[in-house]
Amino acid sequence: MDHFEIKNGAMHAEDVSLPAIADAVGTPVYVYSTATIERHVRVFRDALEGLGDPLIAFAVKANPNAAVLATMARLGLGADVVSAGELKRARAAGIAADKIVFSGVGKTAEEMALALKEGIGQFNVESEPEAEMLSQVASSLGLTAPIAFRVNPDVDAGTHAKISTGKSENKFGVAYDKAPDAYALAASLPGLAIRGVAVHIGSQLTDLAPLEAAFTRIGALIERLQADGYPVSVADLGGGLGVPYDPAKPLPPSPADYGAMVRRVSAGWKVRLAFEPGRVIVGNAGVLLSRVIRVKQGSAAPFVIVDAAMNDLLRPSLYDAWHDIRAIAPRGDRFTANVVGPVCESGDTFAMGRDLECVEPGDLVGFMTAGAYGATMANTYNSRALTPEVMVNGNDWAIVRERQPIEALIAADRLPPWLVGE
Ligand code: LLP
Repeated sequence: MDHFEIKNGAMHAEDVSLPAIADAVGTPVYVYSTATIERHVRVFRDALEGLGDPLIAFAVKANPNAAVLATMARLGLGADVVSAGELKRARAAGIAADKIVFSGVGKTAEEMALALKEGIGQFNVESEPEAEMLSQVASSLGLTAPIAFRVNPDVDAGTHAKISTGKSENKFGVAYDKAPDAYALAASLPGLAIRGVAVHIGSQLTDLAPLEAAFTRIGALIERLQADGYPVSVADLGGGLGVPYDPAKPLPPSPADYGAMVRRVSAGWKVRLAFEPGRVIVGNAGVLLSRVIRVKQGSAAPFVIVDAAMNDLLRPSLYDAWHDIRAIAPRGDRFTANVVGPVCESGDTFAMGRDLECVEPGDLVGFMTAGAYGATMANTYNSRALTPEVMVNGNDWAIVRERQPIEALIAADRLPPWLVGE
C-alpha cells in the first residue's frame, strides 16, 4: 500500500501533485512519501507483535537520504550500516548509536575505530580474520566491541543471483559448520564481547521457505552456543522481505506472514530479536518522476525516450528488474512501447514491449517502487548529474537533495600541473 494515487487526473504523492513538483524542481526527480514510510514501519512493527521488544534497524543502504533517516529516527528505528559513511549518516540523522549494527565483509580498522568510539550496539562480524582485527582495534582503544557473527546458513534464497548472500559460495558470513570455532576464537580474544548471532540470506525474497530454513538453522546454533556457555542474547535475522514490483505477479509474503513465520520458528529462543529491513520499509514509498523527451519509431514498438536513465535508476539494467511505469496524467488509452533513457548503452532500457498508458513527448511518467535502491545507486555516468530528491508530507513538500549542478561535477576534477596553463 502506498500513497501515490491519481486525483483530479494527475498522480499525487499524498496531497501534493507530482506535476507541480516536476514543474518546480525539474525532472528526473525522486519523490518520497512520508505517510507511506510511516505506514510500512507501522505494518512491520505490528507484524512483529508478540516477539518482545525487537530492534528494527533500517538498512541504510536502501535509502540513505538524510530526510529518510531522520524520519526513521523519529519513528524510533535503529540502523544497519555497512560503511563509515552510512554510520556517519545514521548518527547525523539522530539514530541512537546503541541501535546501530555494523555489517559488511570489508570493515577497515578505521571504520572499526569510528564505530567503537561512537559506541554502536553490535558489530556483525563476517570472518575470523575480521574478529582478530576488531579485537586489536578495540584493545588499542581500551574499548570492547559487542559482536555477533554473521553466519552463512548455506540456503538458496531463490532471488536474483546478484542479491543472494546466504549460499556457501557467497562471500558473506562465517560458514555454518565453522561457526562454533569462530565463537571459540572470539571468546579467547581481548576487546570482544560476544552478544549474538546474525543472518541475512538475500534481498527481494518472495518465498518465506528459505528464510524459515535459515532461521531454523540459526535457532539450532543459538541453542548449541548457549549450551556451550556463550552469552548469546541477540538473534539478528537480517532483512530481505520482498515487495510487489509487478502488479501482474502474485503478491510476495506480507510482513504479517513473515512475522507469523518468525514467531513459529523462534518460539523458545532465549534471545532478543533484531531485524534489518530495507526495501519493505522504503521501496513503495518512492517514485522516480521523469519526462518523455521524444518518441522514436522502433522496428517492433516505439521507443519512449525519457529523461531518466540507467544512471538514475540502475536496477533494470543491473538486475533486469521490473518497475511499473505509469503515466502521471493518464490519457485513457494504452499502447505497447519500449521505455529507454538517453544514456549511450543498450542496457539503458527500463522496459521492452511493455503495455503501458499512452504517453507523448512532454508527458510525465513515474517509475514506481523506486524508494529502495534507487537514488542511492545513482551515479554520474555520461556526466549526468545526480538526481535530486523530494519528500512529501501531507500537503507539504521539500527538496531533500538538491539537483547537483554539472559545474559541481566538473569542479571536483583536478588538472595535473603539466596540463595547467598555456
Ligand atoms: N542486511 C544486510 C546485511 C544486507 O546486506 C541487506 C541488503 C539488508 C539487510 C536489507 O535487505 P532488504 O530488506 O532491503 O532486502 N541493490 C539491490 C539490493 C541489494 C541488497 C543488499 N543487502 C537491489 O536493488 O535489488
